[in-house]
Amino acid sequence: MGPVRSELMWQAVADAVQIAGDGDLLDVLDLGGGTGGDAVRLAALGHRVTVVDPSPDALASLHRRGVEAGLAVPVTGVLGDSADLLDHVAPASFDLVVCHGVLEHVDDPAEALRPVAAVLRPGGHVSVMVAGRNAAVAARALAGDFATAQTLLGRSASGWDVRTMGARRFVAQEVETLLADLAFVTVRSQGVRVFADLVPSAIVDTEPGARDALLALERVLTGSSEFTGLSAGLHTIARLDLTAAPPDPGGKSATL
Ligand SMILES: C[S@@+](CC[C@H](N)C(=O)[O-])C[C@H]1O[C@@H](n2cnc3c(N)ncnc32)[C@H](O)[C@@H]1O
Repeated sequence: MGPVRSELMWQAVADAVQIAGDGDLLDVLDLGGGTGGDAVRLAALGHRVTVVDPSPDALASLHRRGVEAGLAVPVTGVLGDSADLLDHVAPASFDLVVCHGVLEHVDDPAEALRPVAAVLRPGGHVSVMVAGRNAAVAARALAGDFATAQTLLGRSASGWDVRTMGARRFVAQEVETLLADLAFVTVRSQGVRVFADLVPSAIVDTEPGARDALLALERVLTGSSEFTGLSAGLHTIARLDLTAAPPDPGGKSATL
């Protein structure tokens, strides 16, 4: 098993696959899948996985990772991004879109998510993971940087300029609103990594049993809504609402 953080992020992907497929093998799009850590694990389980990412270096690493894993069916890597997604993949061709760690970095999260509904089959699911704002506030305060903690606390995901303010941070309600505006119904909103990013790695790596105990604690906390707001990762799984008209992939930006 890899580092605690990666394992917990993988568990989130596994949760989404379980909810979207209930044990079936799925067509999965990993939008902004990067070097393919999750994508290759999904493919190794038999899912048919496509990664769309604007980084040629990341796609090269994905390819290497897939070869090393000896995948029977390789992950399809596509150079592209959310803006030109429909130039690369067919409409209504996926059961699940994973979009983890991407909305923090794009200019407009609503625009980045807009084409997702169009590439999902009816009743398909999206899994969105973003960085939590409250956890960032806590981390800054614990490091003694109280002024930055207070500045972060006063920000909202809308109007966040990633060029001048760095990676965007969210609260869970902002993600749910974003998805609701795009005709998705949230089926699970959970927190990932309450303590994993805060505990010194010396403790986790050297104390016998600490790693497994931390993983077990984190899984319990993921299931507790009391801790969602304190989590470093905010994970939302949502289903395309069959009763709502699909949003126009080229339409105007929804508000956060
Ligand atoms: C922090 S990495 C996350 C990688 C992976 N999803 C994960 O969870 O480990 C962000 C990835 O998003 C990609 N990316 C940035 N903007 C994007 C966009 N507009 N559409 C799709 N991918 C994008 C980057 O190239 C990068 O690989």
